[in-house]
Amino acid sequence: MKTVASTGCKRTAPMSNESAYQQCINVDCGATVGIDEVHVACPTCGSLLDVRYDWDKVELPARLSDFNARWATRNCPLDFSGVWRFRQLLNFCPDAVKITLGEGQTLLQRCDGVADYTGIRRGGLFLQYEGCNPSGSFKDNGMTAAFSHAAMTGATRVACASTGNTSASLAMYASAAGMAAVVFVGSGKIALGKLAQALDYGAHTLQIAGDFDDCMARVKQATEAMGLYLVNSVNPFRLEGQKAIMYRVLEGLAWEVPDWIVVPGGNLGNSSSFGKAFSELKHLGLIDRIPRMAVINSTGADTLDRIVNRKGLRYDGGHFDSRVIADDYAWQDANGVKADTIASAIEINKPVNMVKCLRALETCDGVVRAVPDAEILDAKAQVGRWGLGCEPASAASIAGLRRLVAEGVIGADERVVCILTGNGLKDPDATVGYHTGQAPGGKSIPEPRHFANGPIPVVNELDAIIAAIENA
Ligand code: F0G
Repeated sequence: MKTVASTGCKRTAPMSNESAYQQCINVDCGATVGIDEVHVACPTCGSLLDVRYDWDKVELPARLSDFNARWATRNCPLDFSGVWRFRQLLNFCPDAVKITLGEGQTLLQRCDGVADYTGIRRGGLFLQYEGCNPSGSFKDNGMTAAFSHAAMTGATRVACASTGNTSASLAMYASAAGMAAVVFVGSGKIALGKLAQALDYGAHTLQIAGDFDDCMARVKQATEAMGLYLVNSVNPFRLEGQKAIMYRVLEGLAWEVPDWIVVPGGNLGNSSSFGKAFSELKHLGLIDRIPRMAVINSTGADTLDRIVNRKGLRYDGGHFDSRVIADDYAWQDANGVKADTIASAIEINKPVNMVKCLRALETCDGVVRAVPDAEILDAKAQVGRWGLGCEPASAASIAGLRRLVAEGVIGADERVVCILTGNGLKDPDATVGYHTGQAPGGKSIPEPRHFANGPIPVVNELDAIIAAIENA
């Protein structure tokens, strides 16, 4: 098992977890449970849980830049980890149980080429490249935290429902932790790169005859029936790890707060987690303002957009009308409404973190947009063209930014960070399909494919080859 017990890292956070507890997010309930208990919902009212801290008991840095010192001690796995080097800010388990695979060595890259495409002034757009993580997506930030909690509670079998990346990440961490992994994926609903990872890391992979929303409902039942440890983002510890994406964004900007964070929205774990990160940093006086946030759906999976923009639901300090969400999900069931988008990672119609996301939108004065697949794929091609590469879901953030600049919601002079959630190699079918017009696997590729760069067939003769190069 990859724990860090024997590394001799210098401990700057207290070893105990006395400061941490779990609390129901429902403001009318607020029940608390112990940090070492395993729940995916409040045992009293069934709402989501938060991890909370008694900050007075945590030894915090005086300013965020104090974390820079950890770069000098990267031989310690906890200081190397882009999650645990901020461990005072997610101090829920002892160091000895932490399971790390060196996640979070990610990059905040200024990208003027993509800035030009979106209408942001050169120098103002940064891409947070989470595709550099060990399993190729941002999920590893959450998985290191969830597995550390799983280890703390003595779990031996872990499970998730997934559109692909969670299963890949879970499978990787489970094999490192010596735990058995069970993943639920929708039949034909997962990009091949991700399925390949789950299989290769030895996860028990169940292809359910249904989509992600079906898998999510079933994995919750199986978890309850069998006592599996669930690592979907209903697990509040997952979201604690994902806060570190925002810490690294701030670090990449020399601890300056950007004007906007733009993030794709699927199950709404990231957006929820980012809101919590900023609300805590502000509360602790470690930042002086909170950036605005834009959450971007695909139009083929636009439940958040419908609920916020068409039904007008707001968090309202926790006093929102929860029937709006329940009625929407019931309407989907009654009408057989299913998510359908080329951005398979966010092909989700019943996001489990809806309420936490509404809370984050309030914290961050956020906006929501939905963008069509054709714009997502054009945006993805731009990210690739300017040297980074991401999977379709990630590019929703770029397509969404472009729309928001065109609408005047985001100003050309603002400083913007888009989160590229997953590596381009995860879904080569979508990429090759875009550039050739023919998708190797199932889904049709939407036109007009403005930046298609298909391969050029050439006869095997030097003159023809030279001509083909000259004509490029
Ligand atoms: N981008 C990628 C690449 C993803 O894999 C996901 C979610 C998201 C964005 C959406 O993030 O849920 O935090 O809003 N993938 C999950 C999975 C659902 O099963 O891999 P979110």
